[in-house]
Amino acid sequence: MIGRVDQEVARNRAVWEQASQKHVREYDELLAQAARRESLNADELRLLEPVLRTRPDVVHLQSGHGLDDIDLIAAGARRVVAVDYSVTAATAAQRRARELGVPAYYVAAEVPGVPLTPGLADLVYTGKGALIWMRDIDAWARGVATLLKPGGHLFVYEAHPAVPLWVWDEEQAGIRPDRSYFAESHVNDTFPANGAQEWQWTLGQIVTAVVAAGLEVRVLEEYPEPFWKPDGQEAAVWGGRLPNSFALLARKTQG
Ligand SMILES: C[S@@+](CC[C@H](N)C(=O)[O-])C[C@H]1O[C@@H](n2cnc3c(N)ncnc32)[C@H](O)[C@@H]1O
Repeated sequence: MIGRVDQEVARNRAVWEQASQKHVREYDELLAQAARRESLNADELRLLEPVLRTRPDVVHLQSGHGLDDIDLIAAGARRVVAVDYSVTAATAAQRRARELGVPAYYVAAEVPGVPLTPGLADLVYTGKGALIWMRDIDAWARGVATLLKPGGHLFVYEAHPAVPLWVWDEEQAGIRPDRSYFAESHVNDTFPANGAQEWQWTLGQIVTAVVAAGLEVRVLEEYPEPFWKPDGQEAAVWGGRLPNSFALLARKTQG
């Protein structure tokens, strides 16, 4: 069992290393996009505003292209230390941050178990396709709690766990016959991580893991809009009747 899981994590990492070449191929477009500060959406900025007003030190787990980091700093963060296991993604994001002159620093490492100083963060930020790559949601939550200072916040903005069930049909909202809300995992069949194994965590499992790690949930909001749509794709499931994303803000209460 341990061997199989390790293999799946290693395979996902290889898929992401490959997929992250996009950040190099499209470096100039992403640089222009970063300068426009459009990565954090209105709900994220609204919920994060009281935290960002305190000039927090941020740790961003699974930072990908890193555009969120540029926005976090523009909105008040003092500094972002960002972690992603793709060396390609971390290197491209570091180059971009340097070119834009923002204090964002990138570490290529696996989550959970990141090699950062415990208690480093006033805010741990993560999301937009992060939790589905966690094999053990309780270990992830414990890792977040370790990184936070007492009184520090966790902010997650993610695809709603029901999203893998949705059929992308323009006319009719539907549920895929091959998926279950309660399945352990499924194979990603859409861009960008096509072929990788996504682990599924229900909203209940995510909230319970966060609480069990010693954090107090302050906000849990669900939204009809997805955070990502493939170019040109439209779907009835995005029409306002179904959940497509959620945000969670939690606070570490003790040391
Ligand atoms: C869909 S991206 C989302 C990241 C970021 N929010 C963005 O929009 O670019 C997922 C990222 O998580 C990273 N990742 C996946 N599993 C990881 C793990 N176990 N440890 C560290 N990084 C991981 C991938 O390399 C990828 O860059």
